[in-house]
Amino acid sequence: MSRCYNFDEYVDRKHSHAEKWNNMVSAGAPKNDHSILSMSIADMEFKCCDEILNALKEPIENGVIGYDCPCQKFFSSFVNWQKEKNNWDIKKEWIVPVPGVVPGIANTILHNTKEGDAVIVNTPVYPPFFNVINLNNRKLVENELIELDDKYVFDFEDFERKIIENDVKVSILCSPHNPVGRVWTKEELTKYGNICIKHNVLMISDEIHGDLILKGYKHIPLASISDEFAKNTVTLSAPSKTFNIAGLAQSVAIISNDELKDRFLNGLVGYGIFHMASFAAVGFVAAYTYGKEWFKECMEYIESNIDFALEFINKELPKVKVKRPEASFLLWLDLRDYGMPHEDLHQYLINEGKLLLNSGITYGENANLFFRMNIACNREMLIDALNRLKTALNKL
Ligand SMILES: Cc1ncc(COP(=O)(O)O)c(C=O)c1O
Repeated sequence: MSRCYNFDEYVDRKHSHAEKWNNMVSAGAPKNDHSILSMSIADMEFKCCDEILNALKEPIENGVIGYDCPCQKFFSSFVNWQKEKNNWDIKKEWIVPVPGVVPGIANTILHNTKEGDAVIVNTPVYPPFFNVINLNNRKLVENELIELDDKYVFDFEDFERKIIENDVKVSILCSPHNPVGRVWTKEELTKYGNICIKHNVLMISDEIHGDLILKGYKHIPLASISDEFAKNTVTLSAPSKTFNIAGLAQSVAIISNDELKDRFLNGLVGYGIFHMASFAAVGFVAAYTYGKEWFKECMEYIESNIDFALEFINKELPKVKVKRPEASFLLWLDLRDYGMPHEDLHQYLINEGKLLLNSGITYGENANLFFRMNIACNREMLIDALNRLKTALNKL
């Protein structure tokens, strides 16, 4: 298959500011040990496309890096992308720029609940969800996903029961789900939304992984299901994962309910957030306008990495269980068969295996002995990581 973009290229990020390679201490690894291979934080090792890189030169060439605001193209590029990808008709007026999906989640919680109010999440789930609830003095309610042989599913009975028992005010949906890789079906989303609406629970839908859908699956934005859902949802989306530009810190909230939107906007202004970073403004537009071909090839590469990794694991490491993800570039490895304390195994993989994976336990108590592996890297690095995993685990 001929490609225009080279995803085999190695980019040295160890000597950059990359958090994945330079802040390994926070993930439990020793400081400055560059012999450790990091397959952790969810950005990609791929260079982003030239069209974006060229657009980023614009503010520099212009020479003035002043205050920026979203231009017409900012809105139209995103509206067009959602129409083409998800057949979702959104209006320009519903879009609010926000410097990050997690800040958008925090802003929604802070301005729609009061201290002590309960917020529900489906665990295991992306750990910053816990922080925005706990550190803002809201009550965390965990609804554990049910693990089937081939996938995770919602436990709707427990979800509804916990909403009632805790008088839950807000739910945070991760769609597609990080880390378990589910692309929720229309039936699942409809059931989820109906329960929330029945009990007056405001829905936050984190759809940052919504473009990274693997073959055979279809992402459905929660708010696109019905007008009733739309009016009760704050959707958060971003080009960060899709085009590997998380460092631009430019996301959007999509809110069709005017009251909710005003509260969201006022919340941002209350923190003094009412400008855009120049690079974020141009990068966002370039990504959604010119990044389509790069993204298509990138997903083909990711899909082939997933095939490769699953085949390797199933053949060489039969004690490691892994379900095929339906979205994104994250493998959720089940190492329960190794039957040792979670933290000991994590440290063993780092110190003996020289391999850094995300520790599952931070995603919820039901993730003991699970580890998340980011496979968005060139094939050579993936093979290196899989061999390190094999060598370390085989010594146990
Ligand atoms: C589900 C999910 N939400 C949000 C984020 C981060 O979003 P941001 O950096 O825009 O706050 C990530 C990053 O890994 C993620 O996986």
